[in-house]
Amino acid sequence: MNYFIFIPLIFLLLIDIYFFQSNCDLFEKKLFKITIYKYLYWTVSIAVYSILFYHSYDYQNESKFVNMKPYVFSLIFVIYISKFSGIFALFLDDLIRLFKVFFNLFQSNEDKVDLSRIKFLKNASLFTAAAVFSTLSYGMIVNRYRFKVYTQKIKIKNWPNSLNNFKIVHISDLHLGSFESVEKLEEAIDIINSKNPDLILFTGDLVNNSFTEIQPFKKSLQNLKSKYGNFSVLGNHDYGDYIGIKRNSNKWIENFNNLLKMQEECGFKLLMNESIEIKINDVSFNLVGVENWGVGRFNKDGDFDKAIKNIGNNKPTILMSHDPSHWREVILNHDFNIDLQLSGHTHGMQFGIEIPSFKWSPIKYRYKEWAGLYKKNNKQIYVNRGLGHLAYTGRVGILPDISLLNISNEV
Ligand SMILES: [Fe+2]
Ligand SMILES: [Fe+2]
Repeated sequence: MNYFIFIPLIFLLLIDIYFFQSNCDLFEKKLFKITIYKYLYWTVSIAVYSILFYHSYDYQNESKFVNMKPYVFSLIFVIYISKFSGIFALFLDDLIRLFKVFFNLFQSNEDKVDLSRIKFLKNASLFTAAAVFSTLSYGMIVNRYRFKVYTQKIKIKNWPNSLNNFKIVHISDLHLGSFESVEKLEEAIDIINSKNPDLILFTGDLVNNSFTEIQPFKKSLQNLKSKYGNFSVLGNHDYGDYIGIKRNSNKWIENFNNLLKMQEECGFKLLMNESIEIKINDVSFNLVGVENWGVGRFNKDGDFDKAIKNIGNNKPTILMSHDPSHWREVILNHDFNIDLQLSGHTHGMQFGIEIPSFKWSPIKYRYKEWAGLYKKNNKQIYVNRGLGHLAYTGRVGILPDISLLNISNEV
């Protein structure tokens, strides 16, 4: 029994009570002469507590939370984020009422001000909750699999002229455990194949936690076709570190080895802190792949020095590294020149605004390089927004990403 589950449950209960008591009159309204809304409200809330409790009570058996259906988790997330956003206006109203209570202490009875809620703030609260709920629901229903091809021209110094307009399809963050639809993945694969890519590069987070997530999608992934190969690296989620299995325990090793095997069976050549030379006719370039390396709490199994040990720096070099923070922390100031790093990991937070000449997402305050192409000191990084999704099974503003990178010589 993990007693820590009671902390989030109590938090959710407090949100429920606060939101309910502030909108009592609304929930008391009748539909067909029955006060149905308040019963509906608490039925949904009690169902949520039960689901969360059921999935937590033997959290020691780590598989249980993992087995929760992603869309169920996501729906709970959407309901409570909506209520939580609606609370701010109510909270502001309560602060004003508190101020009024103090004010009234010094007033005669006839001068006391009204303590009831300000109608505008109450309406603002309901409007905010409804707007957040509708937007996030739209993101789940419509945008979850609305794949978008992001085309990007990239210039690289010393890129062989004979390889101008070289087509790389860059994908990332499939998170197969949340994907839930083989048909939709096949739709994405058809789009990728229709671009006739020279290379397909996958920059990690194939799964959420376990190699078993791959099985239903394995056959489909084998259909990814490119002229010169499909390559991949590991993301932080590919290590099984988030389900309570101790690193390097037998169980952990079994999961990890199976994941490596499955990647190869899916048709990816997995680069584990290593490099290969891609030779095409009489020209070539380096492709380097590192294990996950991320700032802060993320694992740092990536070893760039080891990865470049066997290659020279006289050729154009592309690096695959899951976490874009690796670029700023290690690659940008490294003596070995990386012309282009390809990363994923941010998912563009699955939420933001992206229109020509303007892009914003809250994730930009955590990762300076979070979507698209960035340049500094003659080095470049391209960050994929992720093809899959994690936690919230939807997207708002930042769509599932199939990046078509068109590489040419810098003239
Ligand atoms: Fe990811
Ligand atoms: Fe990641």
